[in-house]
Amino acid sequence: MLRDLVHPLLWSSVLWSGCGGPEGSGPPTWHGDVAPIVIERCSGCHNTGGIAPFPLETHAQASDFADAILGSIEDGSMPPFLAQETDACRPRLPWAHDLRLSESDKQLLRGWVEAGTPEGDPATASPVDPPEQLQLERADVVLTLPEPVTVEGTADVHTCVVLDPGLLEDSFVTGRQIVAGNPKVLHHVVSYTLLPGVDEEGQPRSKEQLEAALIAERGVGIGGSYDCFGGPGLETIEAEMLDAWAPGGRPNLAPPNSGQPLSKDALVLLDIHYHPTGLGPETDAGTTLSLMLADAPPELISQTILLGNFSERFESPFGIGDLLMQPGEREPSFSIPAGAQEHVEEMTWEWILLPGFDLSVYGMGTHMHYVGRDMSVTLERAAPLPGEPGSECLIQTPAWDFNWQRGYEYDAPFEELPVMRNGDVVRMRCVFDNSMSNGFVVDALSEQGLSEPVEVGLGEDTLDEMCLAAIAIVYPNFPVP
Ligand code: HEC
Repeated sequence: MLRDLVHPLLWSSVLWSGCGGPEGSGPPTWHGDVAPIVIERCSGCHNTGGIAPFPLETHAQASDFADAILGSIEDGSMPPFLAQETDACRPRLPWAHDLRLSESDKQLLRGWVEAGTPEGDPATASPVDPPEQLQLERADVVLTLPEPVTVEGTADVHTCVVLDPGLLEDSFVTGRQIVAGNPKVLHHVVSYTLLPGVDEEGQPRSKEQLEAALIAERGVGIGGSYDCFGGPGLETIEAEMLDAWAPGGRPNLAPPNSGQPLSKDALVLLDIHYHPTGLGPETDAGTTLSLMLADAPPELISQTILLGNFSERFESPFGIGDLLMQPGEREPSFSIPAGAQEHVEEMTWEWILLPGFDLSVYGMGTHMHYVGRDMSVTLERAAPLPGEPGSECLIQTPAWDFNWQRGYEYDAPFEELPVMRNGDVVRMRCVFDNSMSNGFVVDALSEQGLSEPVEVGLGEDTLDEMCLAAIAIVYPNFPVP
C-alpha cells in the first residue's frame, strides 16, 4: 500500500493536500485506510460476543467510539501489550505477533478522527485480513471443563480445575490451544502440568498417588476445582507451566524439533480467571485446552520455567542456584511496606549448568499481582561469546496489569535467541506501589473491606505479592545426570 512507502508525516501532508495519487485524494477513510488496521489489530477481541466491551468491526461501530479509540492508542492501553521498550530495556529481538500500531498507523487514525471519521467508498475498499482463526494441526488430547461455570455480579472469579490428560505413555507436548467456552467472561487461563514426583521411598508416584496427594492438600481430585489466585497454590506438588492464554491468544506452538515432557502420570491444572460482564449471569459451558503431542521424542526440550520468589527455596532441574532476594542478602525476605510507592525487590538467579547444557530463551513473561507496577528481567553473562552482549534485557513490562498476563515470544530464528550458560545470572527487578495511588490496590483493598494499604508479603492471595519471571527455554534432550 502507498502509505507503507511514505514517511508518516509526509503521508499526512500528502493526504491533506489532496494530491496523493489514486487513494490519496482526501483524508483517511474507513474503507480506504482504517478498517484494515482496526480489524486486524482490534477485532480479535472487539467482536460481537468477545471479551471487549464493544465490537469494532464496522464503520458505524468504530465511528461511535472514535475518540475512545484514539485515546486508547495514544496512551498505549490498546491493544493490550505489556512488553514495552524503555530507556532501561531494549530487548535485542522483536516480539512475534506484535499487535501494536506503528507510528504511521496511529497517524492515519488521528487523521481519520480529525476529519470526522469518513466512511469512504465500499466499492474501492482496501482488502481486509480478518484476524486469523488458527487451529492446531492436530488435537491429540482435548481437555474440557467438566462442569459449566456461571459468573455473575461484579467480583472476578479465580478457579483451578484439575483434569486428566489420560495418556497411556510418556509424551511431549508440541502445541497447546485454548478455546474459550464463553469469550465474554473468560479473561485468562494459565495451564500447568502437575508432576507426579516421588513417594517417601523416592519411587516415582503413579497418577493415583498424585491424585491422592492433591485430595490431601486441596480436597479435590480429577474433575474437581478449588479457589486459587495467581498460581496453582500447591505446596507438596510441583506444577510446571504449560501455557498462558489471554483473549486474542494464538495456538502456542513449541519451537521446531522441540517438545515439553508430559508424563503419563501427570495431571493438568487450568488456572482460570473470569471477569463478569456486570450485566447479568454468563455461563462458560466448556472452555477447552487442546494439546498436540510429538510423534517421537524430539531433539530438543522446550519448557517454561518460573524463576523468582514463588517459593522461599528454589531448586532448578539442572542444579542448585543462588537466589538473593536483595543484593548482599542470603536469606530470602520479601515485604512491601504499607503506603510505599516505589518499593523495589531485586533478586538474582545464578545458573549452575553442565558444559554443553545451554539454554536458549525463546519467550518471556513477567508475573506480579495487584501491587506490582513494573518488572524487568536481565541476563548478565559470565563469559560472553564474541558478538554476544555482556548483559541484555530480556523483557520489561513497565505498566504491569494483572489482567493482561501472557507470554511474549521472540520473532527470531533459533540461532539468534539469547543463550544462558553456566555462571550466567538472571536478574529480576520488581517495583511495587502499595499506596492508594495504585488503583489496583484500592480495588483489592475494598474487596477485603479495607480502606488503607496493609503490609504485603509473599503469597498467593489477592493482597499478597510475587516477583516471577517466566522464561521459555529450549535445550538438548539428554538426561540430566
Ligand atoms: C487482546 C484483546 C484486545 C485487543 C486486541 C484490543 N482490545 Fe480494546 N479492550 C479489550 C478489553 C477486554 C477491554 C475492556 C477493558 C479492559 O479489560 O482492559 C477493552 C477496552 C477498550 C476501550 C475502552 C477504553 C479503555 O481503554 O479501556 C477502547 C477504546 C479499546 N479497547 C480500543 C481498542 C482498539 C482501538 C484496539 C486495536 C488497536 C483494541 N482495543 C484492541 C480487549 C482488547
